[in-house]
Amino acid sequence: MEIERVGVVGSGTMGHGIAQVSAMSGFETVILDVKQEFLDGAMKRISSSLDKMVEKGKITKGVKDDTLVRIKTTLDYNDLAYCDIVIEAALEKPDVKGRVFRQLDSVCKRDAILATNTSSISIDEIAKFTKRPEKVVGMHFFNPVQVMKLVEVVKGKRTSDDVAQKVRELSEKMGKIPVIVNDAPGFVSNRVLMPMINEAVFALHEGVSTKEGIDSVMKLGANHPMGPLELADLVGLDVCLDIMNVLHSAFKDNKYRPCPLLAKMVKDGKLGRKTGEGFYRYK
Ligand code: CAA
Repeated sequence: MEIERVGVVGSGTMGHGIAQVSAMSGFETVILDVKQEFLDGAMKRISSSLDKMVEKGKITKGVKDDTLVRIKTTLDYNDLAYCDIVIEAALEKPDVKGRVFRQLDSVCKRDAILATNTSSISIDEIAKFTKRPEKVVGMHFFNPVQVMKLVEVVKGKRTSDDVAQKVRELSEKMGKIPVIVNDAPGFVSNRVLMPMINEAVFALHEGVSTKEGIDSVMKLGANHPMGPLELADLVGLDVCLDIMNVLHSAFKDNKYRPCPLLAKMVKDGKLGRKTGEGFYRYK
């Protein structure tokens, strides 16, 4: 089976980026979400990202127009029936993943691959919601999807080698560099990255330095392109908290306990760039 048609479930920060990269790589792409306003917002973000690329001379106006023509939006799961692969990028909550994968399993053609962009939830657990665990795989993109090179391809215990290979090839066709990892809490990326971000929040909480001080230390001293608190704002504080909770409950080790300041900021709706305020304020 050649992959020609890609479905994306969820049109938020990750979903819109995945859909854009997919359509730019020549795939017919369908984005599904639960509200038309979310889909309209995603199309606006994609269009403005493509406009910036045209302005910078990275792509022509023709490439922009062709990309937009390849993207359809829908509120109806039946429109994903003929996709060769569906990449789920919905909320990072196990019950949401369960609902989405049950629906996908019932509407998608039998040989379709069901991939998830989950940042930490077990692929084996998600596969249990389907009758095709060998076709369930992690396809973990990084934010901003249009720029970041990595796709962490996560192989569950029952993911077939053929499916992992197809997803590896698809990632390459999307201009990305795939790295195959096994299913474990947080995989590799977030097992390493999130405790660092959480520790930076503890350092702020305990008054070790200011937010700017902490970020400067990591930018200047470890050559990170962004400080950990700036990065938390980019990723979304709710996503960071969800991932820390997954690590904490999976490993049952207190070193993964989320910083109370992180939990408080999420409770106060300070989720980072997407809400206009996190550790920093955004226009
Ligand atoms: N769409 C398209 N292009 C974008 C973009 C977007 N959303 N955001 C940035 N870019 C482009 C810019 O246009 C620019 O292109 P040119 O070089 O051609 O001019 C380029 O990316 C660099 O952007 P900027 O000059 O604006 O800023 P920068 O040099 O500071 O880079 C950054 C911005 C790429 C975000 C950089 O700061 C960076 O790499 N930060 C770290 C990001 C990171 O670690 N992401 C992973 C988060 S973890 C995750 O996503 C997984 C998870 O499970 C939580």
